[in-house]
Amino acid sequence: MTLQADNHPTPQQFTVQLLAPYKKHLLYGMASLIIVDVADIMPPVILKYAIDSIERGQDFATLAWCGLALLLTAAIQGVFRFFWRQFFLGTSHHSVYDLRKAMFAHLLKLPFHYFSRTRTGDIMSRLTNDIQEIRFMLGIGILVVLDASFYFLTVPFIMMWLSPRLTLITMTPFILIPVMVVMVKNSIHNRSKDVQARLSDLSSRAEENLSGVRVIKGFRIEESEISRFNRCGLEFVRDKIKLANIESLFHPALDLVVAFGMVVLLYFGGNMVIAGSITLGSFIALESYMLKLSWPMMAIGWIINIYQRSMASMERCLQVLREPPATASDQPQTESNSIGAAIEVSDLSFTYPEATQPGLKNISFKLEEGQTLGITGPVGSGKSTLLRLLMKMFHPDSGQIKIGGADAAQIPLKNLRELFAYVPQETFLFSESIRENILFSQENKDQPEVARSFADRAGLGGDLRDFPDGLETMLGERGVNLSGGQKQRVSLARALAAGRPILILDDCTSAVDTETEQKILASLRQNTRRSTCIIVSHRMVSLQNADLIIYLDNGEIAEMGTHQQLLEKNGRYARAWQRQRLKAELEKS
Ligand SMILES: Nc1ncnc2c1ncn2[C@@H]1O[C@H](COP(=O)(O)OP(=O)(O)OP(=O)(O)O)[C@@H](O)[C@H]1O
Ligand SMILES: [Mg+2]
Repeated sequence: MTLQADNHPTPQQFTVQLLAPYKKHLLYGMASLIIVDVADIMPPVILKYAIDSIERGQDFATLAWCGLALLLTAAIQGVFRFFWRQFFLGTSHHSVYDLRKAMFAHLLKLPFHYFSRTRTGDIMSRLTNDIQEIRFMLGIGILVVLDASFYFLTVPFIMMWLSPRLTLITMTPFILIPVMVVMVKNSIHNRSKDVQARLSDLSSRAEENLSGVRVIKGFRIEESEISRFNRCGLEFVRDKIKLANIESLFHPALDLVVAFGMVVLLYFGGNMVIAGSITLGSFIALESYMLKLSWPMMAIGWIINIYQRSMASMERCLQVLREPPATASDQPQTESNSIGAAIEVSDLSFTYPEATQPGLKNISFKLEEGQTLGITGPVGSGKSTLLRLLMKMFHPDSGQIKIGGADAAQIPLKNLRELFAYVPQETFLFSESIRENILFSQENKDQPEVARSFADRAGLGGDLRDFPDGLETMLGERGVNLSGGQKQRVSLARALAAGRPILILDDCTSAVDTETEQKILASLRQNTRRSTCIIVSHRMVSLQNADLIIYLDNGEIAEMGTHQQLLEKNGRYARAWQRQRLKAELEKS
């Protein structure tokens, strides 16, 4: 099933979409519910016949039949309660499974800038807490609505049949209920939205603190982080109590209405029995029906609450689903198998969505297939930005990128990304074994020999031998049990194993010593002769063999050429080179 959120459905319309595939289950559930409810409203009438027959001093057989009928209604309820549970709760689990699946698939298609402006904890909260609220509504919520409706549509009529006058008198206080519902509906909705937003804050804060725990401990700011977290927690409690306040006023108010009805019934009904205008059996049956009505009365409050909460949550899920996916602007025209690995960039400029200064200005260069491009330059000069544009993580404001002669803007995102193996500046590893991390992009991850050969090429061979479980060593969340340099090399091995035509290394050997870095790069050159390589590094010595070197500064190409040409030019590159050489020699001596 595909869930459509791009035609801007309301939360209510979307709920119908979610339930549509399970219509049959809902119908079976409804049928079971009606059978249970019919069996449940019978006993007071049976009781009435039993009491009336006692009053008239009739035979024992009527009493026996009544007893048997009571037993039968109990048995029917037992059996069919089992079924409605299966059908309603089953439907709710299946539909939120569909919703969660759709949201997750959609999230993975969203562009990079969505994730730079949205906190992970917030997304997590939508995927868990909000979905939980929706599940509650789709399961128990629907069940209660149908159940309560049944009682409202049947019990008053049976009561009318027993005594129209008494029923009308006792029902009068119930007119208050719709008035009360209208009064609280909106406040519950708004307060629920606040509560869910606070829960998101809380999850985000917990998520950021836990993933940044080393920084927090390093700066010894545990105490202040604990108090910030506690403040968030207090705000959540405050909003939750605000919501509970309305609920705790609403429920007793409903109970009061029911109790008032009971008193009215007792007074007028009692007098009518004494006067002989109704039988004792009818009076007792009416009392039982009043009691039975008290459940749907309470259910109204409950349903309004669950409904408003779930619609607030549904709106939050829909916000995610309405985000336009990254592929929306693509017009697929070129097939990936026809794309080569030569890169030509002309007059490229780009400004980040939230930035005021351009990140890149008038970048042009040309790289043949199989060549290596080195990019260096001061921090924040736009090196990573250039790589992000090549991989179409962002769209340029002006200029053109050609890959294999084809305009990158015309290459479908999926085909374009399949050209690249990327080692990002910030290493991210999954909490799996080293082998599974290296063979991340492979269908078959059960090839230890293949993983080992890529580990060797990434210079990780020696380290693997020191790990107790070698390739099978499990990594903690984000690979906490590896050193920075080891993580970078696992990440490099993962890129090599992907075997893509263009290899992009963003400063990925910064945490490795110069000597090891040289070895890794030499082995790379040997093994990836046919791949086009783009290597970003602050260590210029690592780039000296590149076919082309770009020295970026402030988003612009300050100098460009081969290592030799740039040295001869005796400009900024040459000066930076001399400084790095001098520093290295000083460190050696
Ligand atoms: N997502 C973003 N939104 C707005 N500005 C950004 C974003 N990412 C980077 N920038 C800015 O763009 C400029 C270039 O950043 P970039 O990451 O490309 O630098 P870099 O050359 O890779 O630096 P480093 O050597 O530290 O990795 C910086 O001024 C940075 O603050
Ligand atoms: Mg960078």
